[in-house]
Amino acid sequence: MRWHKKFKVLRCYILILGWLGIILLFLSYWRVETDVAHPPPPPLQVNSGSQPVLSSVQHEKPRSKKLRHQCNPADRIQRHQEGVLPSQYELSGVMIVLRHGDRGPLLNVRNLSSINCGQKSYGTQVYKKYVSDILNVSKTNSYINFVGPFMKYPLLPLPSKCSIGHLTPQGVLQHLQLGKILKEIYFYEFNLLGNKQQLDDIIVYSTKYRRTFQSVLAFLYSFIPKFDISKIRLREGKGVSFCENDCHCEKTDYFDQKYDQERKDYRKSHPGVIELVRRINPLIKAKASAEDIINPLVMRDALLSYVCHGAALPCNNERCVKVEDVTSLISYEEWEGKQKRTSAQRRAAKLKSYGLLKNIVATIDRMIGDAKPRVVIYSGHDKTLKYLLDSLAIPNYPVPYYASRLILELYRNSSVTHNSSHRMNFFFRFVYNGKDITKSIPFCDSITIKQLKSGSVKRGTISMCSVSKLESYIRPEQYFKEFSAVSFREACRK
Ligand SMILES: *[C@@H]1O[C@H](CO)[C@@H](O)[C@H](O)[C@H]1NC(C)=O
Ligand SMILES: *[C@@H]1O[C@H](CO)[C@@H](O)[C@H](O)[C@H]1NC(C)=O
Ligand SMILES: *[C@@H]1O[C@H](CO)[C@@H](O)[C@H](O)[C@H]1NC(C)=O
Ligand SMILES: *[C@@H]1O[C@H](CO)[C@@H](O)[C@H](O)[C@H]1NC(C)=O
Repeated sequence: MRWHKKFKVLRCYILILGWLGIILLFLSYWRVETDVAHPPPPPLQVNSGSQPVLSSVQHEKPRSKKLRHQCNPADRIQRHQEGVLPSQYELSGVMIVLRHGDRGPLLNVRNLSSINCGQKSYGTQVYKKYVSDILNVSKTNSYINFVGPFMKYPLLPLPSKCSIGHLTPQGVLQHLQLGKILKEIYFYEFNLLGNKQQLDDIIVYSTKYRRTFQSVLAFLYSFIPKFDISKIRLREGKGVSFCENDCHCEKTDYFDQKYDQERKDYRKSHPGVIELVRRINPLIKAKASAEDIINPLVMRDALLSYVCHGAALPCNNERCVKVEDVTSLISYEEWEGKQKRTSAQRRAAKLKSYGLLKNIVATIDRMIGDAKPRVVIYSGHDKTLKYLLDSLAIPNYPVPYYASRLILELYRNSSVTHNSSHRMNFFFRFVYNGKDITKSIPFCDSITIKQLKSGSVKRGTISMCSVSKLESYIRPEQYFKEFSAVSFREACRK
């Protein structure tokens, strides 16, 4: 009898708890749905290519800022802290590392064929002029000499079709804009090329992908004065790290795997993110039989193909992906990126970027000694930038969005009256997406000049790093110290 009574009480408790749960669930659902500051997106349907932009994204101000940042539309690309120094410092050269522009997703997503990736770009005057000019130029001999190993590559992305991993017209537009603002700074303001451009004043590398080639072509079109490419030769960059020697390293895999494991652990500590990815996976997969998307960064990339092209997020049986799902994933990636750079990540990057860093230092040497080249451009990927930033040990940086830029500016202190071309009078600064990051480079002990103003625009503090600091940093004894090694080969030994 007593047991029966106890059981009844227990059942009662469970019932009450159950009801409480349901009420709580309902309340939280109701709160999300009626959050006035962030109205939920209107019912979404993937709009077909011919329809005008239905941009739920653009009406949602606070959240759209985050998405705008990720998508980096051309009108957002503006000059910021590039080329701001007192006139006593003379610009001797620049190295520009680029990420390709906006592209289609890396894997097939649902309704990809109905997303119009050329929307708002393809029809613009700037784009039309570029298309007709580049088609014309491509028939000339200078173009054939210029293009070298990329001869067979198509000049332009498809007008509207969003293809997997390929550049979009929006990506072209981004680089047309970026080239334009950098031309104004380095060639018009600083007159970096002087009066006569010579062969090898400008060196251009691109990885052998269509998207990096087409990006750099658009970039050069608006960057090079009058688009005179007769004295430029496009070269093939080896791998995402543009490595020519000291590249292959078995140990890299070991650090990569370690870092992968660390990231898996981060994700385990965020079950909400995993759950979110699991929930929207069936809405994003191209086919039911396709492989599941479980990595939040892969999911974020897939979702950008909708939000960056004004397409509505996909729905299925009235369940839709919401804009806040996308922003949650972006926030998660930002969080993951901000975690203290672990030694595994930094070490992998250092091994991958060693060749490129050596190349950069050798180029600085030539810029100082021969005043040549003046400009070096690397057209690469987000990884190219990440590895470089990690191997410079920049503690905290936003992940590189489409058409990101990392620029090294080399200056000579011309107020030194004698011996001024001596290398100790040369300084450099790194500007990443318009932000001066020189002072975040630990080995620099950067020299801070002062708060500069250019017109009414405050440019922030200007920091410089002496060239000799970079030279000592990449000296093998120094660079491979944390591997307990004194050379690349030794650091790579298993
Ligand atoms: C989107 O894809 C689904 C099948 O995955 C299809 O039924 C639907 O018609 C597509 N919508 C558009 C606008 O193409
Ligand atoms: C095409 O290029 C030729 C020279 O190569 C030039 O004379 C002509 O005006 C160009 N046409 C257009 C439409 O730009
Ligand atoms: C540049 O040279 C001037 C004059 O010799 C000197 O006062 C100044 O400190 C130098 N700048 C740097 C960053 O060393
Ligand atoms: C230039 O400066 C360096 C370092 O201070 C010095 O060793 C060298 O003798 C100088 N050269 C001349 C020509 O003054």
